[in-house]
Amino acid sequence: MTHTNLVPLYCLHFTILLMWIFQYLTAYLNFLVELGVLLGGSEETSQTLMKEIVDFETTLANITVPQEERRDEELIYHKVEAKDLKDLAPAVDWMPYLTEVFAPVTLNESEPVVVYAKEYLQKVSELIANTNKSLLNNYMIMKVVRKMVSVLDQRFQDVEQRFLEVMYGTKKSCTPRWKLCVSDTDSALGFALGALFVKDTFAEDSKATAEEMVAEIKRAFEDSLKDVSWMDSDTKKAAKEKADAIYNMVGYPEFIMNATKLDKVFNDAYVNWIKKNGEEATLPALGMTNHQLFFVGFAQHCLLPSGEVVGERKYHDTDKDL
Ligand SMILES: *[C@@H]1O[C@H](CO)[C@@H](O)[C@H](O)[C@H]1NC(C)=O
Ligand SMILES: *[C@@H]1O[C@H](CO)[C@@H](O)[C@H](O)[C@H]1NC(C)=O
Ligand SMILES: *[C@@H]1O[C@H](CO)[C@@H](O)[C@H](O)[C@H]1NC(C)=O
Ligand SMILES: *[C@@H]1O[C@H](CO)[C@@H](O)[C@H](O)[C@H]1NC(C)=O
Repeated sequence: MTHTNLVPLYCLHFTILLMWIFQYLTAYLNFLVELGVLLGGSEETSQTLMKEIVDFETTLANITVPQEERRDEELIYHKVEAKDLKDLAPAVDWMPYLTEVFAPVTLNESEPVVVYAKEYLQKVSELIANTNKSLLNNYMIMKVVRKMVSVLDQRFQDVEQRFLEVMYGTKKSCTPRWKLCVSDTDSALGFALGALFVKDTFAEDSKATAEEMVAEIKRAFEDSLKDVSWMDSDTKKAAKEKADAIYNMVGYPEFIMNATKLDKVFNDAYVNWIKKNGEEATLPALGMTNHQLFFVGFAQHCLLPSGEVVGERKYHDTDKDL
């Protein structure tokens, strides 16, 4: 019998798959280790802890039921009551969890619950019960860290970028960081950012000119109403009311140019939020009130390395990344 070097095709496919999984897991582990080091861990500890996390996630993935086995709704539909969940998955303290998630809707133990992943819940509960609490804690923290990487500083972005390049051979986003900062700041502190923009770019008289034009258009519209014969008087009255209701949104609202009023808007928003939701616990070891953190959060997030503030940059002068 002669020996052959030919490998059957399915074997080759399998080898490629294994190579890909190995490459993925290596890149993923490196990513977590680097994050751990950036967060202040030593290389060695980070390596040990992150390896545990990757192994845990591998086990978790193994008990996840593939989508193609979940197509038959009737087969996976299990209607139970909230109190039955603790028999199904005792590792989770269900009632406090559900109460929190559904607040302010009140629930009791007879609340009907439809479980679409019975076996998964059972297995995940066993996994939680048999896994070292310290590892579970690290796993959950790293989940949060990974989610928040995009709002952490450039070193974190670079680490994520390297991981994504290995994984997908592409960059995650071509949007320069300064644009993300401007858009985040805009959605949170829009009026304040608007004021900076107006100061920087608006010609003094352009708002007045545009407002004058809008007033003219409104006047012309109302004049023309007098002469249209095809509208009855009720319709004309409605049309006039509509014209009167045109809300002037030219340029910017006047108050944003007055720092006192602008401060009041944000301060009131925060104070009202506290009134409604109650004071939050302060973060330990920071030595700052939540009020201070509320403002520092945005400032820090959007500070350029040189200490220059994003709002002071012109919107159009550069496409460079921060
Ligand atoms: C995956 O699960 C099967 C049983 O469902 C088990 O035999 C196997 O060892 C598990 N593999 C890993 C890597 O955990
Ligand atoms: C649970 O809540 C439902 C609906 O809110 C109610 O009909 C039922 O009597 C409650 N059961 C118990 C045991 O309190
Ligand atoms: C869990 O892991 C930590 C850290 O690796 C270790 O110190 C501890 O002894 C472990 N606990 C158990 C019950 O194995
Ligand atoms: C800004 O608003 C405050 C409070 O309404 C007012 O007292 C002050 O005169 C305004 N400043 C300017 C420059 O208009």
